[in-house]
Amino acid sequence: MPSTPPEDNLRPDPTWEIPAHIAIIMDGNGRWARERRLPRLAGHRAGTENLRRVIRACVEFGVHYLTVYAFSTENWARPKEEVDGLMEIMEEFIDKELDELDAEGVQIRHVGKLEGVRPQLQIKIREAIERTRHNQRLVLNVAFNYGGRDEIVQAVRRIVEDGIPAEAITEETIASRLYTAGLPDPDLVIRTSGEVRISNFLLWQSAYAEWYFTPVFWPDFGRQHLLEAIADYNRRERRFGRVLDPDE
Ligand code: FPP
Repeated sequence: MPSTPPEDNLRPDPTWEIPAHIAIIMDGNGRWARERRLPRLAGHRAGTENLRRVIRACVEFGVHYLTVYAFSTENWARPKEEVDGLMEIMEEFIDKELDELDAEGVQIRHVGKLEGVRPQLQIKIREAIERTRHNQRLVLNVAFNYGGRDEIVQAVRRIVEDGIPAEAITEETIASRLYTAGLPDPDLVIRTSGEVRISNFLLWQSAYAEWYFTPVFWPDFGRQHLLEAIADYNRRERRFGRVLDPDE
């Protein structure tokens, strides 16, 4: 019988509030590989395996939405070999994991643009979305060919195309035209690898999110690190710009 790694027994404290929506900038795959004298793509493969573990933990912990930054509009500028490798990894991920993700009740969604993505990958992404659209346990938003500014530009274009007069534009007018329309904003955004930047990720949606930065490289960011991030989130006092107790 396969033994369970001790980490798999770690659970959130029952008194904690579990963030409904966690978003992650999965950074540090390249440095993880370099430390091991491996090619960068080996880091992305290790990062993909880790993503699988983190999805499983989120399902178990009762997170309802998980948004992961898989490929930015700026990542096309990386060497062709790395870009092609990342596209292959995405395809393999869908081929390998779709059945199990579907069985676990994971709904796959895409945030970003599909234009410019190779046709066979577009087809696989559309199939994965279609097949899992009724699943309710965890919504997995894959930010792929995504950029926060680009998302806002396309929302503004749609507002103009829809002929909405300037005085009728509200936050809702914009939010309902983003890729994330209908989804709640992230409560907690995690960035791994020690970088302390937003990097064009969920610019609009993360306005009131709690940010958590950790030096751990993404392939090493395990269940225990996720629990540390959730514990830290529980120590924050979310004020959304207000004063909670004016007499304090
Ligand atoms: C950042 O690390 C990571 C990426 C640009 C790609 C993230 C992709 C995955 C984890 C795998 C694919 C995702 C799915 C949904 C299957 P980096 O390369 O910038 O690392 P570095 O800063 O150390 O060089």
